[in-house]
Amino acid sequence: MSSLEFPPGFLWGAATSAHQVEGNNVHSDWWAWEQAGRVKERSGLACDQYRRFADDFDVAASLGHNAHRLSVEWSRLEPKEGEWNDEALAHYVEVVQALRQRRLEPIVTLHHFTSPQWLTQDGGWVQARVVERFARYAERVAKALGPLVRYWITINEPMVFLKMHYVTGEGPPGRVGDREVLRVIEHLIRAHALGFRILHDAAPREGPPPQVSIAKNLPVFVPCRRWYVPDGLAARWTDTLFNQAFLDAVTQGRWSVPGLGTWKLPEARATLDFLGVNFYGRQFIRWSLSSRRLPGGGCDLSHHRRDAPEQTLMGWDACPEAFWQTLRRASRLGLPILVTESGAWMADDAARWRYIARYLAAMRRAMDDGARVFGYLYWSLLDNFEWARGFGPRFGLVEVDYGTQQRRVRDSGRRYADVCRTSRLTMGSGAYSGKSV
Ligand code: FCB
Repeated sequence: MSSLEFPPGFLWGAATSAHQVEGNNVHSDWWAWEQAGRVKERSGLACDQYRRFADDFDVAASLGHNAHRLSVEWSRLEPKEGEWNDEALAHYVEVVQALRQRRLEPIVTLHHFTSPQWLTQDGGWVQARVVERFARYAERVAKALGPLVRYWITINEPMVFLKMHYVTGEGPPGRVGDREVLRVIEHLIRAHALGFRILHDAAPREGPPPQVSIAKNLPVFVPCRRWYVPDGLAARWTDTLFNQAFLDAVTQGRWSVPGLGTWKLPEARATLDFLGVNFYGRQFIRWSLSSRRLPGGGCDLSHHRRDAPEQTLMGWDACPEAFWQTLRRASRLGLPILVTESGAWMADDAARWRYIARYLAAMRRAMDDGARVFGYLYWSLLDNFEWARGFGPRFGLVEVDYGTQQRRVRDSGRRYADVCRTSRLTMGSGAYSGKSV
């Protein structure tokens, strides 16, 4: 047996998002999308967490967590443009207070995939007005929650949001043209930049300054056929578009992708206090003539290599070495790092624990190599509504019986709790040491 230690004060916990757990999110575009039959399952009551949040936070606290990530639902606060629901805002104040009472550090996301239905009907993220609309919403939340929240995520996985909602059309509003896709990217950057300033301006003068970031999904893109040069080029290009260009925009104020253009966005310069990293696995890229749409643009994101060591039931390639690589890459920005999501839906719970342990070991190794990681949030605290895939995927440390809304802690949840309580990962013999895959 060997063990890996993590620093004192490290943030340990789990992440969720409003639409996936709260239930009855009736004014959001996802709700409308589900009612229109665009996906196989409707979110309905989901985990009923809008009402059960206190019980769920009790569970998180009992599992040794000292942090928790959640999102505020814009469409609850502003169900119609310009009509603000103060009760909904008061609800989120109560939610964050409930976290504080349990000594769970809140990490609050402003936008996690859902938008108000009125916004999506009125051009969504394609229209430039979204930036000022998002800013109005951010201002309300910042004023109400500012005194209670230190860590903020403006936008969750902007490029995944773009891909899912505007490119592949798995979510609302559905596919748009390439020109519109580029406008969405620009608006996401501008909205983040404005959100960053608003959160800073609204923060109370006394106390530590707020820490604001995006949650950036940072996959490692690898060529599907190692020997085939076009696959290699496609992987590199996808990395620029999906990962690097966005990071450059919010650090240097410049977005540039060969073949797509270069923009100067000076207001987005230096708008990260830390970097939120979401990491699930590697993605294999195959160049193809037939798929010419953004953000794949001439390459196919869906292929897998047969030699991939362990796949999750989502079809994602679990690769601790790639997690190490991503954290090393993130650390080159010179910012502290918070792992805002990482998790797996596995055939059995033992495999889930193996995934967690191996990823934590890889994270420890990246920290030894200089990555300033200050926390890790597992996706997710409990099973929830996984967007177009419905309730099938089960990522939870806690199992949910959707019929009765009963919760049951999984063995992986208990084993992760040992890590959270002790800030130490004990590895059985033969387990991944963080040294190789
Ligand atoms: C991430 C999303 C999150 C959840 C996990 C499985 O991309 O941020 O909402 O769906 O994947």
